[in-house]
Amino acid sequence: MRPAISIDFGAAYTKIAVRENPDSTSRLLSHERLNLDEARICIPTIAAWRERDDRWVFGPDAFDLKSGNGIHVFRNWKPILFAPPGEILDPESSIGRLFYYNLDGGNDNWPPIKKLAVKYFEWLLEVMLPSLLDYRDLDDPVIRISVPDFDGETLYAYQMEEILIEAGWNSPWIFCEPEPMTNLTGALSQGRNTMIDDDGTIYPDIHAIFSGSGLLDYVNLSSDEEPEGDFNMLLVDIGAYTTDFSLVSVGASSAGGLPPLEAHSEPYGVEMLDALVKHGLSPERADVVKRLSATERELFRRTVYSDGRAWTIDGVTIGGASDRVIVDKCVDGMTTRLANEVERFVSTVGVDRIDEVVFTGGGSNIPPVTQKLAEKLAPKGVKKFHSSSLPLDGEFPCIRLGHDIVRASSALGGASVLFGDE
Ligand SMILES: Nc1ncnc2c1ncn2[C@@H]1O[C@H](COP(=O)(O)OP(=O)(O)OP(=O)(O)O)[C@@H](O)[C@H]1O
Ligand SMILES: [Mg+2]
Repeated sequence: MRPAISIDFGAAYTKIAVRENPDSTSRLLSHERLNLDEARICIPTIAAWRERDDRWVFGPDAFDLKSGNGIHVFRNWKPILFAPPGEILDPESSIGRLFYYNLDGGNDNWPPIKKLAVKYFEWLLEVMLPSLLDYRDLDDPVIRISVPDFDGETLYAYQMEEILIEAGWNSPWIFCEPEPMTNLTGALSQGRNTMIDDDGTIYPDIHAIFSGSGLLDYVNLSSDEEPEGDFNMLLVDIGAYTTDFSLVSVGASSAGGLPPLEAHSEPYGVEMLDALVKHGLSPERADVVKRLSATERELFRRTVYSDGRAWTIDGVTIGGASDRVIVDKCVDGMTTRLANEVERFVSTVGVDRIDEVVFTGGGSNIPPVTQKLAEKLAPKGVKKFHSSSLPLDGEFPCIRLGHDIVRASSALGGASVLFGDE
């Protein structure tokens, strides 16, 4: 089986994992220049363009830049690339103006957002990836990239493959997989790959790979045991800009395969939490939050939201005793909205029992967020939660995911041996 390079192209951060051999543990690629998360695996999905000399910079070089004075910084452009068919970029919006009037080159029939994506992936291939991994040592690796799942729409996979090829990823082994599938695989396997040799037939050992999940007991039911309905897994991925829900149901007849049943996205994420907090703070502190550099913002979020501590910058303290009530209210308010949307999603797809819940995305590192969601979901019969921030000895049965796995479960999952060579 070929080695695999897997890319989770996040709206805020791209993460890359590699699996060198069929049964080596998939690992996340890190670099000391990536200093925005503990594991140094988050590559900012950011591009910046300077008009004066038509110079482009990407990733960590663009992270702390601000738009203005002839510099244009492109953040959160992934949703435009994957806008559902029919929704086109408004040429009069500021991002639209830039794209329509300023971005030349490449295939002239392509929309500007695709040209931007090509530039980003060219950089990822030519500059970033070689600094993370000597991939020329890998023998014809499979390149697998996670793409959003909009009702089984294949257009996005096709478009992504086109972009990668235009960007010079000239591998015949480029494949796209729906994000809920790579995410689920990454969270359940945590990067494990194990093969069984059964009289010369070698295949992935799904039991070793998914150990700990009740899914296995379900898949293992002997034929005379009648399962009580499908095994339902809910994934909640709380990202920077969106929270994605997906429900994967394994039926008795489909045991072994993991068909995605439904997926849905809501525009709530950690960016929105910042907006709520800014609104609630005193004008002086709100202004400080507004002006944080991107690097400072990461530190602010971890300290104030996750650790529940005060954070001081330039002599101004945010999240101290007097702000605590406000911050807690905002976290609670956003989580309540999320919880309501999860409930609505689950009832829309007509599922009344959920067996396991997987929390991923940077927002799921915030303990009160997962705690509250778990409280809402537990009555649906949840037997296990997978999370980085629920307490292990708390009221809900929990399998611990590392912070880095939570950030990059789709990248890890995409490198899994379970996806095979194609
Ligand atoms: N411990 C933490 N406390 C608070 N916020 C955190 C923590 N860890 C990460 N985050 C925030 O979570 C956000 C989402 O991170 P993630 O890597 O999931 O985004 P993404 O995958 O690029 O976004 P999307 O899923 O929307 O495409 C980041 O912007 C980061 O600031
Ligand atoms: Mg994500």
